[in-house]
Amino acid sequence: MNIIVTGGAGFIGSHFVLRHVASHPEDSVVVLDKLTYAADKSFLDPIADQITFVEGDIADQALVTKLVEDHSIDTIINFAAESHVDNSISDATPFLHTNVIGTQAIIEVVKEHPAVRLLHISTDEVYGDVGDSDPSCKVTDAQRPSSPYSASKAAAEMLVLAAIRTFDIQAVITRCTNNYGSHQADEKFIPTVIRNALANQPIPIFGTGKNKRDWIYVGDHCDAIETLLTVDWKSDQRKIFNVGIDKEYENIEVAKMILDILGKPHDLISFVEDRLGHDWRYAVDSSQTRTLGWEPKVNFEEGLKETIEWYKEKYA
Ligand SMILES: NC(=O)c1ccc[n+]([C@@H]2O[C@H](COP(=O)([O-])OP(=O)(O)OC[C@H]3O[C@@H](n4cnc5c(N)ncnc54)[C@H](O)[C@@H]3O)[C@@H](O)[C@H]2O)c1
Repeated sequence: MNIIVTGGAGFIGSHFVLRHVASHPEDSVVVLDKLTYAADKSFLDPIADQITFVEGDIADQALVTKLVEDHSIDTIINFAAESHVDNSISDATPFLHTNVIGTQAIIEVVKEHPAVRLLHISTDEVYGDVGDSDPSCKVTDAQRPSSPYSASKAAAEMLVLAAIRTFDIQAVITRCTNNYGSHQADEKFIPTVIRNALANQPIPIFGTGKNKRDWIYVGDHCDAIETLLTVDWKSDQRKIFNVGIDKEYENIEVAKMILDILGKPHDLISFVEDRLGHDWRYAVDSSQTRTLGWEPKVNFEEGLKETIEWYKEKYA
């Protein structure tokens, strides 16, 4: 394959690129990344001479077109996004630019190059709030996004689905649950808990701390994407795939697990005013993705220990 990975210097994208280059050294990989605050190009240093790195914006349609043509691209994997809910509550503008306009720019390029496939990375947050007694969300459930972030991701999905229907582009969408692992931006929940715990600083927990998330190890998410790359999208009627591990933890449980691993007291936990529009629970039914042969492998406790080791070095 000749692939463009957008957002490949961010958290999940960098893991995907590192793993893909290791497992498919014969492929040609172009990383297109705007290098926002969430990116760190040095994550790609170990494979810098095996990829082409381009600093740029996915909303720059002429640039994406040039990359597709110059590198005979057959697949675009679109990780690029503004991804932090709290930032979207403060200012939705960059979210509309990258997540909506940027995705449409990629769709325009794919429309003009029908042989190019688009794997669009979305999120389980498009389902919105899930109640404790609700069943896990299925890909046929309605989108009910709560935050400007998830609304922008839902809009991007709609544009991809509309382009599949109207222009017959080859595309699929993934809706993954919360990822954890190394390389995640400092502002996110797990890096914040680890950083503050290491510094013996209060650990801010929204509301009651009982909101539930299904945490997936970033490598397991990358494996699901690899599995999807092996499917014949033209003959497969399925266009949306949930990705999760079907095991939920309350935010406060996660914070306590991290404190226990680090040998720090639970009284570092400090409850703060709840996030506006905070979704109570996310839960997805990934059975359809599992029928393709994908299974998550990493147990949360084990993955968390490995993740903590990485941040200990970073925050030392
Ligand atoms: N992190 C999660 O838990 C999670 C869960 C489900 C889905 N997702 C989705 O996965 C994708 C990757 O998430 P992440 O956590 O790695 O995000 P991230 O914020 O860590 O990384 C995003 C990357 O995109 C780049 N980028 C931003 N705007 C760009 C633009 N206009 N043009 C080119 N590059 C741009 C950034 O520089 C950064 O490298 C996103 O689409 C996100 O919505 C994330």
